[in-house]
Amino acid sequence: MSGSGTSNTKTVCVTGASGYIASWLVKFLLLRGYTVKATVRDPDDPKRTEHLLLLDGAKERLKLVKADLLEEGSFDSAVDGCEGVFHTASPFIANITDPQRQLIDPALKGTLNVLGSCAKFPCVKRVVLTSSCAAVLYNARPRNPDVIVDETWFSDPEFCKQSKQWYVISKTLAEEAAWNFAKEKGMDIVAINPSGVIGPLLQPTLNASATVILDLINGGKSFPNASFGWVDVRDVANAHVLAYENPAASGRYCLAERVAHCSDLVNILKGIYPSLHLPEKCADDKPFAPKFQISKEKAKSLGIEFIALEESLKDMVESFKEKQFIDF
Ligand SMILES: NC(=O)c1ccc[n+]([C@@H]2O[C@H](COP(=O)([O-])OP(=O)(O)OC[C@H]3O[C@@H](n4cnc5c(N)ncnc54)[C@H](OP(=O)(O)O)[C@@H]3O)[C@@H](O)[C@H]2O)c1
Repeated sequence: MSGSGTSNTKTVCVTGASGYIASWLVKFLLLRGYTVKATVRDPDDPKRTEHLLLLDGAKERLKLVKADLLEEGSFDSAVDGCEGVFHTASPFIANITDPQRQLIDPALKGTLNVLGSCAKFPCVKRVVLTSSCAAVLYNARPRNPDVIVDETWFSDPEFCKQSKQWYVISKTLAEEAAWNFAKEKGMDIVAINPSGVIGPLLQPTLNASATVILDLINGGKSFPNASFGWVDVRDVANAHVLAYENPAASGRYCLAERVAHCSDLVNILKGIYPSLHLPEKCADDKPFAPKFQISKEKAKSLGIEFIALEESLKDMVESFKEKQFIDF
């Protein structure tokens, strides 16, 4: 997305602005002329803020605001004066020892906390919520290459509890609570439901979905036996902006360029980087996890033309090189 032809004086808020997706969102919003109130937990940590402060337009139109999902009222000052709020902050982390405290509370209570702040300020006209395909895909319905998953699908928290999919539960409960809140308060909310997000990093630290790809190319012995949807981070950020700007946008938007098994990713990477030591075998001997389809119809109606998986992977690896996460 370019900023050409667009200039505006609107102020918007992005929560969790230092994150992988949010950093691209802040970049695109600044390019389009918005003033951005960007929430971070620690405005004094250069690893979380420097890359934002260096963005084009940041000097004039980026304001960092300290806020924590678990502190009630924490987002009031960030949301005050904003026409739009992009709520992206939510923990997406590995090594979970206490799922309630580390994932579910910040996702669920945090979403209600942010929406509660939005409800206090009539200037807020629309909230764009960063949900996930995690809140769409995980239920008892079978998935196979003939199945097209779309926005009418919802994950089932009880089903996910059995397999201890805590991140999935956190995103499912957060989105559900957001829709209930919106209905009760008459709030205009649009949800973006990306699948696995890949593509170049702006921030200097590694996020969870980047780690999945880095693990494949960093000498891993095997690839996971898993099929996921994949989408480029630039398309995800773009979809947030379009969902905010298009008055007709409503409901949920699933985002996936395609569904691919991890072995497909390995093969694509082999084609682009023949010298790379990539895993040769699958993590288990079971049949490969079946692929399925994720509908692109709603995303296309927003104006998204997906960046090809091959390009996203290449740009991600190049960004790993540039940031010295790998050396080859
Ligand atoms: N990456 C994917 O594959 C993917 C796919 C679908 C949906 N999503 C969703 O996209 C959003 C962003 O994810 P990401 O991939 O960009 O991950 P990320 O880089 O880890 O960003 C997560 C952000 O959440 C913030 N956060 C976490 N706990 C917080 C708390 N208690 N209070 C305030 N902020 C808190 C972090 O803030 P700090 O900077 O202060 O740590 C960070 O900026 C999340 O809602 C995630 O569920 C991601």
